[in-house]
Amino acid sequence: MTLLAIESSCDESSAAVVQDGRVLSCPVSSQIKLHAEYGGVVPELAAREHLRNLPTVVRLALAEAGFPVTTLQAVAATRGPGLPAALLAGYKLAQGMSFSLGVPLYGIHHHEAHLYSPWVAGQPACADFAAFQPNVSLIVSGGHTLLVLVRAEGNHTILGATLDDAAGECFDKTAKILGLPYPGGPELDRLAREGDPKAFSFPRPLLHSDNHDFSFSGLKTSVRYLVRDRPDLLQQGSALRDLCASIQAAIVEVLVAKTLRAAHRCRVACITASGGVTCNSGLRTQLSAACQAAGVELRLASRALCTDNAAMVGLLAERKAKRGEWPDPIDAEVEPSWPLERICGAQPTSR
Ligand code: KG4
Ligand code: ZN
Repeated sequence: MTLLAIESSCDESSAAVVQDGRVLSCPVSSQIKLHAEYGGVVPELAAREHLRNLPTVVRLALAEAGFPVTTLQAVAATRGPGLPAALLAGYKLAQGMSFSLGVPLYGIHHHEAHLYSPWVAGQPACADFAAFQPNVSLIVSGGHTLLVLVRAEGNHTILGATLDDAAGECFDKTAKILGLPYPGGPELDRLAREGDPKAFSFPRPLLHSDNHDFSFSGLKTSVRYLVRDRPDLLQQGSALRDLCASIQAAIVEVLVAKTLRAAHRCRVACITASGGVTCNSGLRTQLSAACQAAGVELRLASRALCTDNAAMVGLLAERKAKRGEWPDPIDAEVEPSWPLERICGAQPTSR
């Protein structure tokens, strides 16, 4: 099967051609520079930028893969959750292609796609996916912090989620308080490498709570008060690096400890991690060390595929198509608040 997938849930426009479990192309056009000026993603601008960039990434994906559009046997697009207007740009383009080519359209859940991103790198990708089920999967991005129990394909339970800020949001907001450029996560990560993670003691929210939820807004407030009382810290290079290292240590410790505890409680032998924050060097190192110590298999998405991309959307769609799942009806709409647990091989709403 040859399938074209489109991703446009937030600020990355991406298209990918997937054939029999292999990713043949996956160009991504990021809008980071556009939104940096505003210190965060502006939904209206994101949607306009998707409209401008998607035709280009689609053409590029087809050209790189060497397939004319008429050879496609299916199309797929992220249907939700995400920014409504951003989702519309990609999903409606896919719907138009599906209609004009006379091929099925698979609307994909963005988080379910992330669950597959640790398997994208293998060729054919996902070949050993079933061997690592059940697993506990950490999805950490600018918009989400989720712990998911993946029992089997299409069989997921959300164990916990953030009660307030997402982990990536916490990285970005604390970095902003420190005066670092948007998006702050990568910059904070870079400075943290030369800092002392024990220099400042920041709260580890819900670390010992008897659930799998997260909360990061208290940590952000704690950084804000410290900087308000000690603005001089931002003027000293070493203190700034120590601050970055200490903030990262607090976020990473909570993510790692709660993920390992969830895996232990669910008695799974495999953990996976994906989403933009999985690029974080501290998280990658410490999750690897903790999994090794606990004798748990770890599958991390490759850095290039942690952030949003159409390859993960295409691989998942192809698996659904091959399992005989129903494509979307031609009048389907995007689902900006689509809960992961409503997937289970079914359509989000009956229309
Ligand atoms: O998955 P993603 O590209 O977009 C969504 O939010 O859906 O994730 C972006 C988030 C941002 O908050 C960004 O700061 C964070 O991932 N991020 C990082 C790193 N690289 C990206 N956070 C910490 N350390 C990094 N190296
Ligand atoms: Zn994402």
